[in-house]
Amino acid sequence: MKRRDAASDWIAEALALRLTANEAATLVQQLYCSLKEWIQHGELTAGDTLPSSRYLARALGISRNTVLATMDRLLAEGLLIARQGAGLYVANLPALLTRAELPPPLPVRYSSRGNKLLTLSGTLSHGHRAFAPGVPALDLFPREQWQRLLRRHYYHAEMAWMDYQTSGGLPVLKAALCDYLRLSRAVRCQPEQIVITQGAQQAFELITQLLTDHGDSVWMEEPGYGGAQACFLASGLTVTPIPVDKEGLNPSLAPKNAPAPRLIYVTPSHQYPSGVTMPVPRRLALLEYASRAGSWIIEDDYDSEFRYGTPPTPSLQGLAEQASVIYVGTFSKVLNPGLRLGYLVLPDTLAHDFRRAHARLHREGNYPVQSALAEFITRGHFTRHIARMRAAYRQRQACLRTALTPAVAAGLRLSDGHAGMHLLAELDTIEEEEMLVKRASEAGITLSPLSRYYLSENKRPGLVLGYAGSTESELMNAGEWLSEAWRRLHH
Ligand SMILES: Cc1ncc(COP(=O)(O)O)c(C=O)c1O
Repeated sequence: MKRRDAASDWIAEALALRLTANEAATLVQQLYCSLKEWIQHGELTAGDTLPSSRYLARALGISRNTVLATMDRLLAEGLLIARQGAGLYVANLPALLTRAELPPPLPVRYSSRGNKLLTLSGTLSHGHRAFAPGVPALDLFPREQWQRLLRRHYYHAEMAWMDYQTSGGLPVLKAALCDYLRLSRAVRCQPEQIVITQGAQQAFELITQLLTDHGDSVWMEEPGYGGAQACFLASGLTVTPIPVDKEGLNPSLAPKNAPAPRLIYVTPSHQYPSGVTMPVPRRLALLEYASRAGSWIIEDDYDSEFRYGTPPTPSLQGLAEQASVIYVGTFSKVLNPGLRLGYLVLPDTLAHDFRRAHARLHREGNYPVQSALAEFITRGHFTRHIARMRAAYRQRQACLRTALTPAVAAGLRLSDGHAGMHLLAELDTIEEEEMLVKRASEAGITLSPLSRYYLSENKRPGLVLGYAGSTESELMNAGEWLSEAWRRLHH
């Protein structure tokens, strides 16, 4: 195709073949892409002159302005050079630009932190199917009401909200949240102690960044929440799994020679995933241990609102005179995880620095959404939504129990389900767990094996059966399938 002397002819002919009037790309984009490609592939080389804009426009039957706009773009990128009186010619480009001389792609070598993170990301659930743990009822979220609120708050958004923010969240949201937490969760707080984050996960990351060094020790409930495990392990912390008994994390079961932890992560209201609640004497023992060892307790209060029968247990933070507890909350369960809104309630001694570090690292923002959420809370929509979800989840759980009745009658052990968004089914062996997970996957059902929530080799087999995010008919179908699959394994 290349003919240096008669470049004008071949360029015009080749461009005419490529231009299509009904393509989504504009004529300028089409001309630009073709010429750039020829330069990169070496069809046009350094010193080649381009036809004049008048000649090209005439030959292609297009406006001269279109040709000039294309050439301007190539000139601006340095692919062409204008020579006084001699028109445009191809610049002398570094060899790297031509594809033939491109080096092979850089081999990917992740950091050891990155490798750990990727190993821990293998089991991320995707899609939204029956039994997905931790997913709220998206079908029951008041979408229209929320969208109306959002529209209004975007419309009335203050100009200052478009700027960089450093206050740790919109003050009206922090004030509304503070009232809610004081009343509903017995959290001791002032709005200045709150930092709004993009979910609990970002709160764990901020705590890890600010309060730990590589190699520091952190105690983690065993079994425990994968998101927190991933955050600590990928940050190079030494994670010591502490067994959970009927009262939650038991400090007296910590290895005798284990170093004093910098952080202790707990879900005392409703341990994830075992479902046990930490009673007050164990809470006091934990607070006492943490104060002696100089450890910060992370209280992850992710779904405490959903209790069926008894009122929610007050927070651990509210018991702590000596303020060694960092309370982490999230709107992912009570509203929806797509919102990416959570928060930290920090001791006074930490609040100011966490606010600064958060602004430095994460560049907080989205104040119109925070403003809408503040109104959602202060007008009572939030507590009404929680009450509605509590009733719906109780019903969904009952539906799942009904579907599992034949298996339970034949010996399947199910958790009491007094709280939360999932039931736990205990199994006898890891082989049984593996078999059920595999058969479910073949049937298009995602089952979460309990063994996945363990870091040590001392794993207990079981299934974490989320019910909040599925409709009753989905739960009925999946539950009946599981009941039958379990019975078949046991006969
Ligand atoms: C124990 C626990 N903590 C926190 C979260 C919420 O995390 P986020 O606010 O990042 O969505 C979850 C969600 O699955 C969870 O199970």
